[in-house]
Amino acid sequence: MGKLAGRVVLITGAARGQGEQEARLFAAEGAKVVLADVLDEAGEAVAKDLGAGTARYVHLDVREEADWAAAVAETKKTFGKLDGLVNNAGILRFNELVNTPLEEYLHVVQVNQIGAFLGMRAATPELVAAGGGTIVNTASYTAVTGMALLTSYAATKAAIVGMTRVAAMELADKGIRVNAVCPGAVDTPMTNPAQLAPGPDAEASAAAVAELYRKVVPMGRIGRPEEVARLALFLTSEDSSYITGQPFVIDGGWLAGVSVF
Ligand SMILES: NC(=O)c1ccc[n+]([C@@H]2O[C@H](COP(=O)([O-])OP(=O)(O)OC[C@H]3O[C@@H](n4cnc5c(N)ncnc54)[C@H](O)[C@@H]3O)[C@@H](O)[C@H]2O)c1
Repeated sequence: MGKLAGRVVLITGAARGQGEQEARLFAAEGAKVVLADVLDEAGEAVAKDLGAGTARYVHLDVREEADWAAAVAETKKTFGKLDGLVNNAGILRFNELVNTPLEEYLHVVQVNQIGAFLGMRAATPELVAAGGGTIVNTASYTAVTGMALLTSYAATKAAIVGMTRVAAMELADKGIRVNAVCPGAVDTPMTNPAQLAPGPDAEASAAAVAELYRKVVPMGRIGRPEEVARLALFLTSEDSSYITGQPFVIDGGWLAGVSVF
């Protein structure tokens, strides 16, 4: 029996990166998974790979209330209930505080922060109807420490940790646990766009990324999306049955202290 046997989990941003690995791991652990994204072709392909009896893809722009309602309804129609949500979809924009256009700032807020809010709001009645469940929000290590050039991103990730705590308090008596993962650097198209369109200098860029994380991360390497998926699995499964309202940093030791060597 898998750790998620009998569970039905909706995962946003599941077409690639961490969301894809979460969908694959959760399915391997017995869950029915609904993969949601705006990258329809890629999302459909992952769902097809997992099999129609196990996985379903839905188009869901996390900024849109109507998309959320439709995705939740489709989940119930396909698998009979919804008792898990992983709010994973997110975007990253680098900019200096003084140069960040309001439009860019609001775009990041809409996807990362409002997307997570709408997701929790849309899923909660179904989690209650299912007799309880879990929500895992995807924050970032920038929710708990600073990083230059990430005003909009860090703001949204701190907001996600704030919402996680409040939701956990409001939903505990309904059998719903709400936690957040806070990854450091993870090797996905977000941190390494060369993954999407490997160019002639792909090897050099991979070497530069490896050298950077060898220096700044005590464990000497960037994280893998499967490693974050395993934390999301822990927080979705009964293994974390007495844990709610908490952010969990997964960063190879990056936040443990200041590196001078
Ligand atoms: N990669 C990292 O180093 C890192 C570190 C900390 C936190 N995170 C967070 O982890 C999550 C997953 O990121 P990733 O690294 O897998 O990046 P990624 O870019 O590979 O995946 C993000 C996914 O979200 C989807 N998405 C974007 N906007 C969307 C929208 N409006 N509606 C629905 N889906 C949308 C994308 O299409 C994509 O499939 C994000 O929330 C990100 O902020 C990533």
